[in-house]
Amino acid sequence: MAILLMTAPIPAQPLIDALRAAAPDVPVWAADAPHDPLAVEAILAWRLKPGALAPYRNLRVLCATGAGVDKLLAVPDLLERFPALPVTRTVDAGQHQRIAQYVLACALSHLREQPRYQSQQAAAHWARHPVRPLAQCRIGVLGLGAVGGAIAQAFLPLGFPVAGWARSPRVPSDPGAPGALPGVTVFAGEAGLPALLAQTDVLVCALPLTPATQGLLNRATLAQLPPGAYVINIGRGEQLVEADLRALLDAGHLAGAALDVFEREPPLPDNWVWQHPRVRATPHIAGEADAQVVVQQLLDALHRARAGLPQPLAVDRSAGY
Ligand code: GLV
Repeated sequence: MAILLMTAPIPAQPLIDALRAAAPDVPVWAADAPHDPLAVEAILAWRLKPGALAPYRNLRVLCATGAGVDKLLAVPDLLERFPALPVTRTVDAGQHQRIAQYVLACALSHLREQPRYQSQQAAAHWARHPVRPLAQCRIGVLGLGAVGGAIAQAFLPLGFPVAGWARSPRVPSDPGAPGALPGVTVFAGEAGLPALLAQTDVLVCALPLTPATQGLLNRATLAQLPPGAYVINIGRGEQLVEADLRALLDAGHLAGAALDVFEREPPLPDNWVWQHPRVRATPHIAGEADAQVVVQQLLDALHRARAGLPQPLAVDRSAGY
């Protein structure tokens, strides 16, 4: 029994150290170190290159280093070689909380006009502006799983009106997710999306990446936001058509955007997102899963796979999350 790590670009060493401390008897290898492929029963990965799974014929479980599994499910050999392999993701309440903190920071900076006051300070200019009424600070969260649920709940104690959108007509019963979201107005299904967008001043994307959510935030959907709306993406870059965002920013329809994820990561140096005055761009740092949680859940998944037990953190491979 051995565990292999293919975590790039997430550094493997802290996870290897945590695994060796938690399970000293289990061989743990980084993918680029010499290892015996037939001994590998669990792989911990962030993304997989096509063909990467071919040598691991005794694989019992594939575990994601974080909440999203899109980069694992996308690899064709998973379907071809391991059609029934459980794929698990990490469910870390601390990560959800950190992501919620990031979203709050971006939303509050926008709603309380921090960039405007920073430029005033730079010009030694004293001018007070009315605080935006709460009724014009409507938060709309796309995706009401564990991450979206934590984000939606983080805004409530501050008095913001909060709504959320779930792709399926019920709030998903995601492990770690709040089953119900008291205080959050829930919209659901295809018909619910325009309704949510039309009444959202700060849109937060916390959706998993699936064929249904790829390119969901495009010129047509973003244009349904009220003029002056702000967009925060902590989901996946592929969900937001960056050129469409830019067009709506430059046309003055959108006030700004905070992007932690991008169509290409990192964006090329000449990508407009680095320079745009109304875009705040961060390098996919909104919230990482804690190494100890990743390791405990990986070891549990491996134990369950060997014992033939159910995998509570397995994703629905056909749904993509
Ligand atoms: C981060 O993007 C994650 O999927 O955990």
